[in-house]
Amino acid sequence: MCLRIFSATFICCFLSCAVWADPASDQTAFKNYFYNKFPEIPVGDFINGVYAIDQKRRQQWLEIEEFPPYGIAIDEGEILFNETVFSDGSSYSDCFVDGKRSKKNYPYFDVNRNTVVTLELAINDCRVSHGEQPLKYKTGDIAKISAYLALHSRGEIIEVEVSGEAAINAYEQGKKYYYSKRGQLNFACVDCHVASSGMRIRAEILSPSLGHVSNFPVYRFKWGSIGTLHRRFSGCNSQVRAKPLAGQSEQYKNLEYFLSYMSNGLKFNGPSTRR
Ligand code: HEC
Repeated sequence: MCLRIFSATFICCFLSCAVWADPASDQTAFKNYFYNKFPEIPVGDFINGVYAIDQKRRQQWLEIEEFPPYGIAIDEGEILFNETVFSDGSSYSDCFVDGKRSKKNYPYFDVNRNTVVTLELAINDCRVSHGEQPLKYKTGDIAKISAYLALHSRGEIIEVEVSGEAAINAYEQGKKYYYSKRGQLNFACVDCHVASSGMRIRAEILSPSLGHVSNFPVYRFKWGSIGTLHRRFSGCNSQVRAKPLAGQSEQYKNLEYFLSYMSNGLKFNGPSTRR
């Protein structure tokens, strides 16, 4: 596996990645790498991960999507979002100005708090500011609410802004995490999802990172439930025998921010289904 993964392409990319100068040129280089590597994939299709590459799996997935396994999660998320009344009498609608169409507004960099705010963080911030307990971040109710909100931002364009010193710093931290090797197997995200994208690793085909944030949350058959993007990050950390981080840790938030910026211009299409 290592021999295949550490290909010449990877080394070239990594060297050029290392000298990328600023977010805008990072993004152009990142996208061009994938456009050149997969000229047959229509640009807008990168949001479909592995199913943009493998026709047989795409067919099976399209059949699954006719009766999507995340349907129940959406229904439950709708009830949770619209019918929860906090102990002070307020509700989620008091925190989310765009109501059920709010997912498109995340993630963003909050200058006052000097941190990246993701949708899931905003959900818990809302709860806590109204006297409620926060929800668990990787699965359960938060993923259901996220699924409901994702559904109502389908087709919206990912448009993450990175400007100002503090935001650029968060972006740089996310980028650094993405390119750093970790775990007993000593792999970085870039090794699998850039250099080796399209290649097989055991029974899996590695998806390109471009578009990676668009389809979340996802129902995974492996999980038997719906989970957030940070749950997926944790899974990828575990695969290389690195310790997964907490959901909404600074590193994962910055990673989400970096990956979202890389996918600017693509459409949100969550929730989705994965193996
Ligand atoms: C050893 C290889 C490997 C490494 C390293 C790795 N992943 Fe993955 N990742 C996979 C495999 C296998 C899958 C499932 C097939 C696919 O969609 O690529 C996956 C899936 C994903 C998905 C879901 C894609 C989708 O379409 O739903 C995301 C997001 C992701 N990885 C992000 C990351 C991030 C971020 C890192 C670094 C922290 C990382 N991965 C590191 C192997 C890896």
